[in-house]
Amino acid sequence: MDLIIRNGTVVTPSESYIADVGVSGGKIVALGKDLAASGANAVDAKGKYVLPGAIDVHTHLQMPFGGTVSADSYESGTRAAACGGVTTVFDYAIQRKGKGILETVEARRNLAEGVACVDFAFHCAITDLNGGTLLDEFAASVAYGVPSFKCFMVYKKEGMMVDDGTLAKILLKAKETGALTNVHAENPDMIDVRVAKYVAEGKTTPWYHYMSRPEFVEAEADIRAIHWAKSLNASLYIVHLANREGVDAVTKARDEGYDVYAETCPQYLHFNSDVYKRSDGRNFVCSPPIKGEASREALWDALRRGDIATVATDHCPFQQSEKDWGKDDFTKIPNGCAGIENLYPYMLGAANSGKITFNKAVEVCAANPAKIFGCAEKGSLAVGKDADIVIYDPDKDFTISCANMHSNYDHTIWEGVSLHGYPVQTYLRGSLVYDAGKFVGTPGQGKFIKRMGRA
Ligand code: URP
Ligand code: ZN
Ligand code: ZN
Repeated sequence: MDLIIRNGTVVTPSESYIADVGVSGGKIVALGKDLAASGANAVDAKGKYVLPGAIDVHTHLQMPFGGTVSADSYESGTRAAACGGVTTVFDYAIQRKGKGILETVEARRNLAEGVACVDFAFHCAITDLNGGTLLDEFAASVAYGVPSFKCFMVYKKEGMMVDDGTLAKILLKAKETGALTNVHAENPDMIDVRVAKYVAEGKTTPWYHYMSRPEFVEAEADIRAIHWAKSLNASLYIVHLANREGVDAVTKARDEGYDVYAETCPQYLHFNSDVYKRSDGRNFVCSPPIKGEASREALWDALRRGDIATVATDHCPFQQSEKDWGKDDFTKIPNGCAGIENLYPYMLGAANSGKITFNKAVEVCAANPAKIFGCAEKGSLAVGKDADIVIYDPDKDFTISCANMHSNYDHTIWEGVSLHGYPVQTYLRGSLVYDAGKFVGTPGQGKFIKRMGRA
């Protein structure tokens, strides 16, 4: 054995127990009491939790968007991921008119290969079916290891939106090829009408980003997407769900037996729309916007009862100077916030304070992402799985600050948020990549994860 992590509390979605974890060749090879050392590097985890590395299934690294490019590269974003206990990231490759799926994914994969600090996978966001011919590429994409396609139901002006007819074609083709359809659900026409009204009235502070995209703007599209999925009997995954009515629609669909999943993000669980009244409100501008307190509470309830399947970050940070473009005009603010390094510490902090269980944190941040998105080797501490492991100290206090993060961005919405408990080590396939506040891995050691399609 290469490594034994001794006497920690091993957490799975269903149980927690004290055991040693034995690692060899990057895999977990043994779990049990008093494993024989046989020359292995032994790490004492007594009093600590031993958890599977998190899988962040929603990031936008070096993404051209909002008139600029998001601030984290594949290297810096995955370095930060490692330091927050995330051992696999799923980035969105955005297909553009005239381009194929595989060429789009391979272009992004080439940017990540050789620099990524943790393992990586891709979803492909479809923005144009190229006259229908793109649908013929779905099966090849699934075979390549990219069995999930995203539809933006919004970002019309940005040329990224797909209309309902296109969404329906994608849902059907995804069903036929064993893929999953992800949707960013907001209604663009409602947004346009509301933005025009507020701008005409001279109401352009960041608060009006929220006011132009309030709860029902998101809910309308959630409900529409669910109706499409139900009527076609197709699987659906709603990304960054943030509103109560949408939660209710997901819950109902799941109760009726439909294959509908929802993801939310830590920013929607922690903050409410009051952040847009703050003097740094522009920094919180993301889409969908952070909603009111009733929605925040509904998200926690849905998470506890299993109707929110995953928590991911939608990591898409922009620098302060870029956020400042919209200081006096919310329509000019590039949409997106940082979070890749905060996901697991935040969710484990919620577990440590009793808001959820550690099992639930592991389920939504690691086990469910692996299961839903076809990562057979990842997402749990079990013999045969990749040794992607996080050691978490429940007694370590940590206050988040841009200065103690490991990204390229120059500010964070999480500045000043205090956590009780924090990850102290991260292992990627048995190799230590984060230790006591420092990145100790090697850029390039992250590898492309070929995912399996749905049965
Ligand atoms: O504001 C956001 N979320 N920016 C990134 C793109 C997206 O919509 O996920
Ligand atoms: Zn989105
Ligand atoms: Zn996103």
